[in-house]
Amino acid sequence: MYLDSLAKIAEEIKNCKLCELSKSRINPVPGEGPEDAEIVFIGEGPGAEEDRQGKPFVGAAGKLLNEFLKNAGIQRAHVFITNVVKCRPPRNRPPTDKERDLCKPYLERQLRLIKPKIICLLGNTAVQTLLGKKSVSSVHKRLIEKNGFNFISTYHPAAAIYNPKLKSIIQEDIVNIKMELERLKYSRDGT
Ligand code: URA
Repeated sequence: MYLDSLAKIAEEIKNCKLCELSKSRINPVPGEGPEDAEIVFIGEGPGAEEDRQGKPFVGAAGKLLNEFLKNAGIQRAHVFITNVVKCRPPRNRPPTDKERDLCKPYLERQLRLIKPKIICLLGNTAVQTLLGKKSVSSVHKRLIEKNGFNFISTYHPAAAIYNPKLKSIIQEDIVNIKMELERLKYSRDGT
């Protein structure tokens, strides 16, 4: 029987040459977190620091994400964090449609294994790729069920570096994830 695992997917990503990003990357960034995570965060793609370390959200945007998680009482070690594309787009440009399409099966396999209760989409690229919607604004504050998963969308933490007003909005959205999680568990238990 064919048994998939996060380690197997990470190994395939390491050897992946499906698109041009594999040529310019230093390290692929498959994502990190436990296979039984209840929450998955999906960003756009690795930046320079992520490319260097092979880990997601470890640069400036990652520092902000850590702060949002801490303030919401969510332990980073308990969530799975990944991106739409697993290799850094040069000069941090958004990944092309082709790059997103070629990389998407890795993300779909990660989600099928983890079966998270909530997926938080960080920014427009994740919203476009997973929900087929144009921007965060069009789905903001809505819990959307699609393909058996529950999605919540917020602005990308990097956007808050340039627009500090977004900080409190993203923080509120991430606090809300915890409440939605409790609500979903409660309604499923029927208790
Ligand atoms: N921005 C992203 O979208 N992902 C990362 O991992 C880091 C920055």
